[in-house]
Order: sequence, then structure tokens, then C-alpha cells
Amino acid sequence: MRHWWHDAVIYQIYPRSFADGNGDGMGDLAGIKSRIPYLSRLGVDAIWLSPFYTSPQNDAGYDVADFRDVDPRFGDLSDFDELVTAAHAADLKVVVDIVPNHSSSEHPWFQAALAAEPGSPERALYHFRDGVAVDEDGVTTEPPNDWRSVFGGRAWTQAPDGQWYLHLFDSTQPDFNWDNPKVHEEFADILRFWLDRGVDGFRVDVAHGLVKEPGLPDVGEGLDIEMLGTTRSPFFDVDGVHEIYRSWRQILDSYPGDRMAVAEAWVESPQRRANYVRGDELHQAFNFDLLVADFDAESYRSVIDAELTTVTSVDAPPTWVLSNHDRPRYVTRYGDGKKGLDRARAAVLTMLALPGSVYLYQGEELGLPEVLDLPDHLREDPTWHRSGFTEKGRDGCRVPLPWKRSGPSFGFGEAAGWLPQPSDWGEKSVEAQDGVEGSTLELYRSALALRRRDVPTKVAWLPSEADTLSFHNGCFRCVVNFGSQPVPVDGDVLLSSADLIDGALPSGAAAWFSG
Ligand code: GLC
Repeated sequence: MRHWWHDAVIYQIYPRSFADGNGDGMGDLAGIKSRIPYLSRLGVDAIWLSPFYTSPQNDAGYDVADFRDVDPRFGDLSDFDELVTAAHAADLKVVVDIVPNHSSSEHPWFQAALAAEPGSPERALYHFRDGVAVDEDGVTTEPPNDWRSVFGGRAWTQAPDGQWYLHLFDSTQPDFNWDNPKVHEEFADILRFWLDRGVDGFRVDVAHGLVKEPGLPDVGEGLDIEMLGTTRSPFFDVDGVHEIYRSWRQILDSYPGDRMAVAEAWVESPQRRANYVRGDELHQAFNFDLLVADFDAESYRSVIDAELTTVTSVDAPPTWVLSNHDRPRYVTRYGDGKKGLDRARAAVLTMLALPGSVYLYQGEELGLPEVLDLPDHLREDPTWHRSGFTEKGRDGCRVPLPWKRSGPSFGFGEAAGWLPQPSDWGEKSVEAQDGVEGSTLELYRSALALRRRDVPTKVAWLPSEADTLSFHNGCFRCVVNFGSQPVPVDGDVLLSSADLIDGALPSGAAAWFSG
């Protein structure tokens, strides 16, 4: 059976930065709904909404205080229902984020845990522990183990009564205790809540982190857990997580329609990632290898080969990602300016020529760069604070989208957005690129339309020059020039990221050829 998610193009919406419907400077669900015609015209199959749930927004909504409601900043449940109805009417599937590793410290469960005694059932929903190294007043001065938060600093914070609680992320994001059956029941119910409202799938946040090794052992010296890195540890990619996804799969399968879930699992190898997409677990896992790969032929080829081999071993579809809300935008990662944009355009044609499912991040279709010069006092990413102001964090890829050439936020809304946009973003706006031949927006539209007609089914590598990749995908041929010199090509061009010059593909360009 062909499932929609096997070859879907899924567009990630970061609600606070997509479109502001009520003029308060923060994007919202009404803003998203108003842009559905744009998304249809772009040619994507589905939208994935980053969290819009009730939240104090200490980690831009990945700190959830109520998993079954919409934060008033973004609207309410009826706005959500209207958005789903409108998306479905436009033939767009809707995927929502689910954040099962932690809640906000403002979640009623955590508030009750703080108010309760050590050893109480309320505390057993999270990881509360006594610390070590007691001072003369009998208060512990050191946390129970040496774990570090991925946002910087230690992964433990002391409650007023002296016990410590675990948070792999910000101190306002306490980790749930997944050894507790109540946590399982709660999330099964949350899944059903959103499935009942008609969502087509879930993106599972920190899917590799839920289960911790028994006894919470020290990681020991020398293990540097970088932000969403791939090092295995007593808190990432512990085998017990797979039981959870087996039970979730049964819930998803019990619903009519073709519901799915995709794991955010930063793990040490493609083989470990494949464990998340075994037949009775989740449907997809993001393959983040392109997101971090250098722009060179060898890197791309090895990422593509590894993914195809991996997913084939478990009969799951490949996935591809070049950008998301956690990483610098790829135009900038590839060199910024014209060079970065040229390479980004070539990269997306390469990705869209591959079989499987593709995840796009809002604004990449406009060729937006990372915003590197945000004023420090406006930075909101907890990484900035927790690193002692040494890591700038992820705000630079979260700047509100420019929709129009002018206006207080280039059409994002009636007012200035929650982060300022660079002054030249009017020229990168949807309005400035719409219908303009050769614009990045039109390149994405054309590529998505062609991909929808000619759905890639395979990768058959063809002989090619050095620094060049060439493959046939069952429908058309894709040639990518990663080198610094033009490469002669032949055939009928279906689409190219840059004009051919005297029958040659310029440096940092890709093209699709028929036949
Ligand atoms: C995921 C999200 C990231 C968030 C973190 C904690 O990695 O993508 O934005 O900060 O989880 O929830």
C-alpha cells in the first residue's frame, strides 16, 4: 500500500515566526490559516506545526504547560480546529509536535510535585533525587550525578526543600519519569486527544531521550554532550524507548486514515536510527545527516547511500532535511551571499530528486539566510543564557518571515515582529519573488510540481566528473556540480538551479534532465 508519507514533502511551520494574524508581533494559528493558499501553491503535501500549546515560552513552546490546549498567544482550540479543516480542504495533511521528554515547570504536575514531599507519588512523575555532599546544615550541595544540560550548565536544579530534579534542557523543562506507568497513560491520552481532532501525524520531540538508564549513572569524564549531538549516553538512545513507540504505533494504527509519526532522534549511527522505524514502531525518523553535511560530492553521496541502505534494512522510507528551527539556515552554512544561495538552491534540487520524504523549513523557499546580528538583548533561546552568553543560540533561524516588500514587519503582520528582520528582507519577500523567473521561490514551486508529477523511486548512480554527482531516480536524471569549475552536461533540462553556460553546469549548481 502506498502511504502519503512515503514520498511527502512536509513543510515545517514555526508558529511564532510564520504569519501574525492579530498584529501582536507573534505569529499565530489564524496567520497560518490565512496562508494556506500560499502553501498549496508552493506544492507541499503536509504541514508540521512546531508547538503551539500552552507554554511560558522559555524554549519557544517546547516547554509545555498544558498538552491539550493552545497558548492564547497562538489562538485557541477552535482556531486549531479551523486550521485543520482548512488544511484538509486544501488537501494538506497536518502533523503536530508532541513533546514527551519533559513538561514546563509550570505544568500542574510539576507544580504539584514541588509542593509534595520527597518520595511522594507526585514527585515520582519526574526525576527527583537527593543530592550528594551534605553541608553543615544537612543540605546537599552537589547534584545526584554529573549530567549536563544540552543547553549548557548542569542538568539538575535544586527544589526549595533541597531535593534535585533532572532537566536535560532548560531548568524550566523538567524531564518526565518514563518508568512511571502514569506518564505512559498520560501521553497515550494526549495522542488520542489530537488524533480525535483530526491530526495526520506527530513529530516526536527528543524521541531518543525519554528513557534513562536505571540508577542514572554518571556519564564520566570526557563525554561532551553537545547540543543535540550524536553521542550515546545514559540518557540518550537507551533501548527502553522502543517499548514506548511500539505502544504508540498501536494507538496510531487504531485510527482510521493514514496517521504517522516521525522521530527526532539524534543517535550515533544510521543503524541506531533504523531501530526507531522498525515495522511496529514509528513510521519515520529524521535523517539529519544532510542538515550537517558539507557541500561536497563525497559527503552527499555517503549520506545518501547510508540512508538508503539503512531504511531498506527496516523497510521504511528515507527522509531528508536541509534546514530546521534548531540549526543555522543552510544558505549561511554553505558560505552565505551568492555562493551560499547558489549552493542552497543546488542542494534543494538534489534533495528533491531523492526518493522518500522531504522536510522543508519555513523560509528556505525564499532563500533566507541566518540572521547573525540580532541584538543580544532580544535573544530568547535558552542556550544563550545557559551558556553564560557564549553560545548565540538558535534565534537567527527563527526570525519572522517576510511576506511583502514593505511594512513594519514586511507583511508578517501589522506590527513589528518579535524579532527584527534585516532591512533588506523586503527584497527576499514572497511578494518580491512571486512570479519572478529564476527566484528561489519559483525554483521551489517548479521543483515541487515536477516532483509531484515524477515521484522519485530510486537512486542509480551514474558515472560523473570529479566533484560532481549524477544519478537517475527512476523518473529523471539529476546532476550536481559541487566543484569550482563548470561541468559540461547534455540532455534536455527540466529544471536547473542556475542557467547553463555554453552547455555547462556552473559551479555550485544542480539540474534535472529528462529521460
Ligand atoms: C528539540 C527541539 C528543540 C527544543 C528541544 C527541547 O530538539 O527541536 O527546539 O529546544 O527539543 O524540547
